[in-house]
Amino acid sequence: MQQQRSYSEGFALHGKVVFISGSTRGLGLAMACAMARSGALVYINGRTSQSVQQACASLGEQGANVQGLVGDMSVVQDIDRCMARLAENHGRCDVLVNNMGIRIRQPLGAFNFAQMQQMLEVNLLGAMYLSQQAAALMQKQRWGRLITITSVAGQVARPGDAVYPVAKQGLTGMMRALAVEFAADGITSNAIAPGTFATETNMAMAGSAAGEKLAARNPTGRWGQPDEIAGLAVFLASDLSAYINGQVIAVDGGLSVLF
Ligand SMILES: NC(=O)c1ccc[n+]([C@@H]2O[C@H](COP(=O)([O-])OP(=O)(O)OC[C@H]3O[C@@H](n4cnc5c(N)ncnc54)[C@H](OP(=O)(O)O)[C@@H]3O)[C@@H](O)[C@H]2O)c1
Repeated sequence: MQQQRSYSEGFALHGKVVFISGSTRGLGLAMACAMARSGALVYINGRTSQSVQQACASLGEQGANVQGLVGDMSVVQDIDRCMARLAENHGRCDVLVNNMGIRIRQPLGAFNFAQMQQMLEVNLLGAMYLSQQAAALMQKQRWGRLITITSVAGQVARPGDAVYPVAKQGLTGMMRALAVEFAADGITSNAIAPGTFATETNMAMAGSAAGEKLAARNPTGRWGQPDEIAGLAVFLASDLSAYINGQVIAVDGGLSVLF
């Protein structure tokens, strides 16, 4: 009788090559750690060699199989160079996580044009070009996972934060466009919409009165911990998610469904 592999093996990422944009800290680093612990070779990305080396060293100490690729993922030449490196080293990219994101939190009237442009170039255009390049590699092997990190702001908006929802809702649209464009090639595209996570960047806010208010608004009564995003990221990267395509899945403690 043929031995069936255990169901949990379907979640494993052995042999997969993963690239996570903006993964030197925060949610990107947490997903990198989890995917590497699930067996993948994970490429860590950030804009400076110092931040990339530091992240690789901290994951390497935990036995994770990681490598670094320095580059600004809103700059075409840097994206081309990083994808060319994956093609040279492995001839493949199995999983792309579009995680990189920046935020300028202010009302529309306070934005100048250059700031609007920066928000859209880094948060949206960079991810679109990177997805195009990664999908070209995935098409060759007829297997791939495109995972885009959006936000609660990928669906709704709030006053005083005018351009971030524009970029994130653009990313939601991009994720759906990729889902229908590449499904026939064995490539799926989905989004993870995080709520409020106590990353290093948010630590000061999480500890403030405003942070406590945000926690109180959440059905769980607390902020998320960075590694709480990782289980879904691993699942979406795995073989077992093959028929999930074009979906936004919130990891927000129920914030987005609270009436
Ligand atoms: N944290 C939350 O509560 C939360 C909530 C909703 C959505 N999100 C989304 O989740 C994602 C990650 O958030 P986070 O809070 O973990 O972010 P973060 O702590 O601010 O980290 C951002 C990462 O992006 C990198 N980065 C920034 N600009 C880059 C660029 N042009 N090219 C390459 N890398 C770049 C940074 O690396 P270097 O500085 O080393 O370049 C860093 O690793 C973002 O898309 C964010 O919008 C987060």
